[in-house]
Amino acid sequence: MAPMTTERPLSSAAAQYPHIRSFVHRRSHITPSQQDAADRLLPIWGIPYQAQLLNLDAAFNRHAATILEIGFGMGETTAKIAQSRPNENFLGVEVFNAGVGSLLKRIDEQQIQNIRIIQHDAVEVLRDMIAPDTLDGVHIYFPDPWPKKRHHKRRLIQPPFIALLASRLKPGAYLHCATDWEHYAEQMLEVLSGEPTLQNTAKAYAPRPDYRPLTKFENRGLKLGHGVWDLIFKRK
Ligand SMILES: C[S@@+](CC[C@H](N)C(=O)[O-])C[C@H]1O[C@@H](n2cnc3c(N)ncnc32)[C@H](O)[C@@H]1O
Repeated sequence: MAPMTTERPLSSAAAQYPHIRSFVHRRSHITPSQQDAADRLLPIWGIPYQAQLLNLDAAFNRHAATILEIGFGMGETTAKIAQSRPNENFLGVEVFNAGVGSLLKRIDEQQIQNIRIIQHDAVEVLRDMIAPDTLDGVHIYFPDPWPKKRHHKRRLIQPPFIALLASRLKPGAYLHCATDWEHYAEQMLEVLSGEPTLQNTAKAYAPRPDYRPLTKFENRGLKLGHGVWDLIFKRK
């Protein structure tokens, strides 16, 4: 089998994208079954973070279009999308222990074959493990809104990060973001529209595509009259 990672010099890349983390490490509650899933299944479906390029064909044991998801939370949406699109690979990146355990449980219980998990900061995963022009899509659903003004610097969607992310997409590949925070939606629209290598597929916000299922949380919000904004851009 081909090795999963290949050496490449990283010194300049690491220096190019210093960043403020979009998450804070907190001790989160993990249930015994999530912990058990993490212990048993992370060695099977997980890929350790390494400062080396990842060979996607070796990681998924096949050559297929690959979609990266950043911050999959409990993995409910990830599992549904991966099951409805079996011919594509889904690489989920999340830092939160209970979330990783939860998605691993779903993979096991639903016998899903096309998901791999990296438990690490997605900014570093993109920067160090993903080669330019390789991804067919990126999903970022309901990223932490960091509502207080003094925390806005922690928001993931910022120009330098989007420039990095866009460089990892193949020409024609898509970036799909969704948020239920109007102010963050406006920031997303401004940042994505300002990235010269991306093009909006809609005039501004896009209708929710059928492949993105409504989450329980989102459904409840919509019933209360709260908005949800989807943005779908393509790499030029
Ligand atoms: C508000 S939750 C949304 C989860 C899920 N996408 C959903 O729609 O329910 C945001 C998630 O992003 C994760 N996250 C934030 N910054 C991240 C980063 N830089 N790398 C990986 N995961 C990150 C957090 O741990 C959290 O689980």
